[in-house]
This record gives sequence, C-alpha cells and structure tokens, in this order.
Amino acid sequence: MFRQPIIVVLGHVDHGKTSLLDSIRQTTIAAKEAGGITQAIGTTEIPEKTLREICGPVLERLKFEVTVPGLLFIDTPGHEAFSTLRHRGGSIADLAILVVDILEGIMPQTEESIEILKETKTPFVVAITKIDRINGWKTYTDYFIDNYAQQSDEAKGEFEEKFYKLVDQFAKYNLPVERFDRIQDFTKQIAGVPISAKKSEGVAGLLAVLLGLAQKFLKDQLITEENAVGSGMVLEVRELKGMGTTLDAIIYNGEIRRNDFLVISNPPMIAKVRSLLVPQPLRDIRTEKKFEPVEKATAAAGVKIAGPGLDDVMAGTEIRTVKTMEEAEKLLNEMEKEREEVEVKAGVEGLVLKADTLGSLEALKKIFYAHSIRSATVGRITKKDVIEAEANKDRFHKLVIGFNSELSQENEQLAKDVNVKIIKSDVIYKLLEDYEKWLDEEKEAFKKKEIDAVSRPAKIRLLPGCVFRASNPAIVGCDVEGFIKPDTQMMDEEGKNVGEVKQIQSQGSSVASAKNGDKVAISITGATIGRQVKEGDYLYSDISSEAYKKLVKNSEFLSGSELALLEKIFEIKKKTDKRYGI
Ligand code: GTP
Ligand code: MG
Repeated sequence: MFRQPIIVVLGHVDHGKTSLLDSIRQTTIAAKEAGGITQAIGTTEIPEKTLREICGPVLERLKFEVTVPGLLFIDTPGHEAFSTLRHRGGSIADLAILVVDILEGIMPQTEESIEILKETKTPFVVAITKIDRINGWKTYTDYFIDNYAQQSDEAKGEFEEKFYKLVDQFAKYNLPVERFDRIQDFTKQIAGVPISAKKSEGVAGLLAVLLGLAQKFLKDQLITEENAVGSGMVLEVRELKGMGTTLDAIIYNGEIRRNDFLVISNPPMIAKVRSLLVPQPLRDIRTEKKFEPVEKATAAAGVKIAGPGLDDVMAGTEIRTVKTMEEAEKLLNEMEKEREEVEVKAGVEGLVLKADTLGSLEALKKIFYAHSIRSATVGRITKKDVIEAEANKDRFHKLVIGFNSELSQENEQLAKDVNVKIIKSDVIYKLLEDYEKWLDEEKEAFKKKEIDAVSRPAKIRLLPGCVFRASNPAIVGCDVEGFIKPDTQMMDEEGKNVGEVKQIQSQGSSVASAKNGDKVAISITGATIGRQVKEGDYLYSDISSEAYKKLVKNSEFLSGSELALLEKIFEIKKKTDKRYGI
C-alpha cells in the first residue's frame, strides 16, 4: 500500500507559500491570516480526486496517471524554516517545494531553506512564483507553456532574464535548476516551475511535476503497512475549547487509532488517545475550527489528538502509537535508549547544547562537531544547564546554546547572575555564527583588559625649557612615542629606574593616556630634574618581565610604534636582567 507523499512548502517570508497552497485548495487562508504571516505549521491533505481534477489535462499531455492516494502538504512560517520537521537522520518530508518570488530571488530564509534541504537530503522543486508581476504578463490559460507562448516579446524577455538570473543564483549553491519542461534528467537537475498563485497559473503543472517525482523516484519510501506501529511528529501543542490540551501531529508512517497508547519521546511518557480528529480534506488543520472525529487515520495524515495529561508535551517531539500498554512500555524504553545515544552528558569541559527534539539535537551536534561538548540534551533550557555551563573552567565555555529551546525568565535571570551567556535561535545555522561572534568579542574584551592592566611601551623626551617644576613631583613638557598612562614606571636609556608617572596633562586638563605624536605635560614622582634626569633626556617605560610577556602575548593590540619600542625596551632590560622575558 502506498501512502501520500508528505510535501513541505518552504521559502522566504511573504514569497507566497500559503498563497500557493490556497490556490491548490482554492481557499483564501493567506488573506485571512493575522498580518498575512503564517504563525504555525499546518497540514493540508489534497485527495487523489482533487489532484485528478486539477491536473487531469496536464497529466493527459504528460501521459501519466495519479497512483498515490493524494498529497499531504505542510505549510511553514517563513521565519522559521522547517526546523521542527527534522527527525533522526533527515526530514519527515518526502519532497519539498522551495518557493521563490521571481522579482526578489534568493533571500536569507531561502538560503536557510537550501541549507536544510541539503543537510536533510530532501529532494525538492523550485516554485518560481508571482510571475503575473512581470511587466505585461497576461494569464490566458492555466498551463504555463501554452501561456508563455502567447506573451509579448517584452514580457517573454523580462521573464527569461529574471528566470535565468535566478538559475545563476542557484548555481552558486551548486544547485542545477532548469525550467521544468527543459529538463533532461530529473535525477540530476532540479525543476524550476514558474507559477502565479494569484492567477492559478502553472499550479497544475507544479502538482504534475511533484506527482511525477514522487511516483517515479520515491515509491520505496512510500510503502506503508496496514496495522503497523504509527510514527509521527507533534507540530503544535494547543488548548482547544472543551477538549483541553490537544496535539496537532503528522503521522508519517503506519496508523493511529482511537484508544491507542501514545508513546511520547519528549518528555518521555505514555498517554492514551481519547479522541482522534481530522480536518476536512482540503482544509488546513491550523485554521480549521470544525474537526471530524474518526476511529483511525493512516499515514500520511495531519491529525489532532486529544487525551488526558498532554500538557507538558513539547512541540517537535516524536510519537509512536501502539495497541497495548506492554508494547508501549517496550517502545518507551527503546526511545529512551535512542535518546541516550544522541544525548551527551560527559561532564567534561565544553559547550552545553540544548535542542527541542532529538533530530534537531543531532543536527546541532553536527554543526558544533569541532568543539568539545560538555552536555547535549533535549528539552527546555533548565537550571541544570546553566549550572553545567557555569562549572566550566574556561570563561569562553560559560554559555548555553539553545536551538528552538524555551527559556524561562527565572533561568534567564539565573544565567545573568552567574555570568553565563545564553545563545538562542530557531535558525540552526545562526547559532554557530552567533557563538563565533560572541567568542571573538569576548576574546577581544579579555585581551584588552589584559593589556590595560599593564604598562605599555612608551618613550618620552623631556623638552628643554619646559620644566615647570624640578621635583616632588617633577613636572615637565614631553614628546610622546608609543603609549603612556599614569602609574607607569620610567627608566633612563641605561635601564635605571627614575620614578613613576603620576599624572598626564594636555592643554591644562588631566588625561588618561597619551599616544604617539602627542605633546603633554607629565608629572613624575621620585625624579629630580637636573639630578637623575636632565632636560632633553629620553625616558622609556620600565616594563616588568611579567608585563612584557603579557604584551607579547597580546601584541596584536599594540601599535607599530609600541611594537618597535617593546623591542628596544627588551634590549635595555636584558642588559641588567638576563632572565628578562623568559
Ligand atoms: P509567510 O507565511 O509570512 O512566510 O508568507 P507566505 O510565503 O505564506 O506568503 P503569502 O502567501 O502570505 O503571500 C504574501 C503576499 O504575496 C500576499 O500579499 C500575497 O497576496 C502575495 N502573493 C502571493 N502569491 C502571489 C502571486 O502569485 N502573485 C502576486 N501578484 N502576489 C502574490
Ligand atoms: Mg504563509
């Protein structure tokens, strides 16, 4: 028996994912959505009969039949890609439609979607949409190829230019996209299908391409056994009036029946399916208010599950359905084992990773493969995670990285209190980027602090005729090379200490430092002009051996003049201290 292929629709925000599904359903969900933005993931079933109706003429021309029992579409919010559809080792989607606005081309979330499709090895077609916005474009017929032939030369020209610009953009990601009717080998090229959801142009062709791909290349993975254990994933956990907490789930394998035992991975628990509801075909589970109670649903299906004790279930979790408590307990054990295989509780120095599902944790670990990992677990960010991160010795490991993981205000405050950084995102690739950025900033700040704590390489010339006071402290006008600040010990050219800089003044007011090229007045305690030092003398900062080593370690923060002076100071000091700088 074949099940319906699961097809996820993804792409940049506002590029027209929901509108494409609307055009297939011939409803208007996109227009009714709050702010026109899809807030949650929804499923819609398009039955075989509807597919025949929409695609009939196209299929006749292409000479093939619908052999799958329908298609199950998943609409995703553009801002979230389809992170939660990940299960271990891939995606629950068999195919994907990547929607791209022909006028806008590849945008940030298109890029994210491409990364996810590549990583989960999900085959996809590109729906190049909003072609009705090409100047002069007219929709005479639903079938793209016929309609294209009837366009003006200008409209054709603009279309070709925009289309192939997009093809070039895809080529940069090593994706060989070609117009679907010009493809020679569907296993090597990716079909680009021009559509207008608004005018319903090209939509039948897009469905035909999807059917063709599914029926030709995905047959093996679409086989499902009757009475098999049901496998699914929870998309949303929602309160429903009169029903309590319900789970919107997609069953991607086997079947689910009323009174089945529901084995849930996160948190690990067993529940009972008290009632099972489905939306009408062609309706989106997300927006539908009326549901039909059913005895069973067979993959692939979007279902609503009601039952006691579902409050703590996490969106994204894997579920299984079985007939007896005994089987349920066995499965729960297996799921626990599987979880243990993916989770890390090493307790060694390293990063603390957190993700909402086992599949996404696996992906997160892959992304951070080059780093040592202290713990990697599924669920919300907990107090324990913060404490684990805090227990790291290395300050650059004191953080929690969370993918799609919730964080309570209380734990956020705790993290602040113990100086643990939290990096969170629902875009997996952003986490590594954010982490590296944080690391750079922290390292920079740390190094700056290190060199701020020590004297810096400086050379000053006591300007003749500029002695304002000879001693206690001596105050004299100077030319500065390098970088000088108060509390710097000074020495003469022989390495003999002559006193300490107390204050630096520039144009009558005191300043925190002076740098190369500045002319300032400097007060020096311990020195008497005319005795240890004379007008016209050069003095250097008297840098301790420890401070010298710190400066060398952080030399990237020193200016060129400071680096040259550091070498000179080393030579002077080496004469009196053989072990200097070692
Ligand atoms: P998110 O769910 O927010 O990510 O957006 P989406 O990708 O689902 O886009 P949606 O379908 O909500 O469409 C966004 C806007 O583009 C709406 O104003 C639609 O009317 C418009 N739009 C979608 N498809 C077409 C099309 O084929 N032609 C034209 N002209 N406008 C379109
Ligand atoms: Mg949408």
